[in-house]
Parts: sequence; structure tokens; C-alpha cells
Amino acid sequence: MNYIRSEKYNTPELQSKIMGPNPVKLEEELLLCHAIPEGSVVCDLGSGQGLTSVFLAKEYGFTVYAADLWSDPAENRRFFDEMGLGSDRIIPVKADAAALPFGREFFDAVVCVDSYNYFGRSADYLDDKLLPFLKSGGYVYIAVPGMKKDLHDDLPPELLLSWSPEQLDYIRDIDYWTGIVSQCRGAEVISVKEMESNEEVWADWLKQDNEYAVGDRKAMEAGGGKYLNFISIVLRKK
Ligand SMILES: C[S@@+](CC[C@H](N)C(=O)[O-])C[C@H]1O[C@@H](n2cnc3c(N)ncnc32)[C@H](O)[C@@H]1O
Repeated sequence: MNYIRSEKYNTPELQSKIMGPNPVKLEEELLLCHAIPEGSVVCDLGSGQGLTSVFLAKEYGFTVYAADLWSDPAENRRFFDEMGLGSDRIIPVKADAAALPFGREFFDAVVCVDSYNYFGRSADYLDDKLLPFLKSGGYVYIAVPGMKKDLHDDLPPELLLSWSPEQLDYIRDIDYWTGIVSQCRGAEVISVKEMESNEEVWADWLKQDNEYAVGDRKAMEAGGGKYLNFISIVLRKK
């Protein structure tokens, strides 16, 4: 696909903020033809170092809460200020997705790129932990790293060059995710599908020279990429 909006985020300085396969390109594909109303208040859940939050604020005009567990909100605040986005446009929040510090029905939408697989693998997560913070009719857009077909009983050796079986347990196929989200009582499942973005988002990530990207190169250079994909999930709260 043509990443019309993401290309300008492909500078070395901005890409140094990514924590996995290019999340800006993933977000652009995830939000093609999205249904989030203009002016919405959006939670970027698992925002990492905030590049996807900047993308949501600048490219779509949303007011964004950049909610993340591992990153430093003060550092993210500095980054947002450097990008010309004040506290009226993006608010960094240290938050655990399992205990979100927001009011009920606070958000118009939740967007989650390369993080939902860390906290959303229980069938109860949506009903108990996430949907209470979303307005009725609000959307959840998720992009997760996936496996084309679950191979957890016989993991390919190429993948084990970079990841342990425990880490790979977070990477599942479309049937797995369909099974999880279809148990949700409070939201309608709009779609669960394989994304087009895969090779190019991996290529952007593997160019980075941080230790995690360098570690991931071993599996990908051995051909492990043929087992992997990205999966998009879209839900609408009833
Ligand atoms: C692979 S990084 C991706 C970050 C960012 N979306 C990106 O692609 O650059 C995964 C992110 O998930 C976040 N995360 C993991 N568990 C979380 C939890 N329980 N609550 C909130 N964020 C969580 C981490 O803090 C981390 O920033």
C-alpha cells in the first residue's frame, strides 16, 4: 500500500522512537476508512514513546491520551512539545491497561498498535477492563503482531533464534484472536483480518540499531518472517 501519511515520519530521528515494526505505517493501514468522528478524544493504548500518538494528533486531529506502562510520561511530554503538540492536543499518562485511570465513558475511541497482545489475551479483558472507558458506539482499533497459523506445539527453529517460546506465546493467529474477541458481550466485532503491512514495517524496524531490533534480525534473516503477519481487529461498543 502507499503510506501517504506515514512517509514523513520515516526520518531517523522519529524512527528512533519506535519499539517494533513500524507502528506508524501499521496505524495508517489500520485507520484507512476509519469511523472515528472528527474531534474525538482517543486513547493510544500502549503508546510506547509516543510516535503513534503524534500521528493520531497531527494526521487525524484527535485529542490523544498517550497511555503506556513502560515509557516515561515526562520524556514523552518533552517529545510532544518538540513536535509542537501541547497538553491540549496530547496528554501522556503512565497507565496499566488492566487498571486504566480514566473516568467511565471518557473516550470516543481506543487505538492500540503493537501492544494489545501484552494485555488483551484474556476473553474478559474487553468487557471488564477496557470498554467501561469507552462511550457507547465508540470504536476500538487494534493491530497486533500475529502468526499466519499458530505453531506453538512445534515452533519453527528460525523463530527461536530471536524469541523464547514464552515470548512467542503472545504472537497468535486470526483464529485465536477471533475466538478471544468474539466472546465479548459489550461490543460488536466489525472485523478481524490479516493486514497488508508486514514486510515493509519489519524492514523499517530491522534497520534500527537498538538491541531489540538487532536481536530480532536473527530470526528474520533466517526466514522466520514467512510465519508472521499483522492482524487488525475492529470493534464497536454496543
Ligand atoms: C512493542 S511496544 C510498542 C509501543 C508502540 N505502540 C510502538 O509500536 O512503538 C509495546 C508497548 O506496550 C506497552 N504495554 C505492555 N503492557 C502494558 C500494559 N499492561 N498497560 C499499558 N501498556 C502496556 C509497553 O509499555 C510498550 O510501550
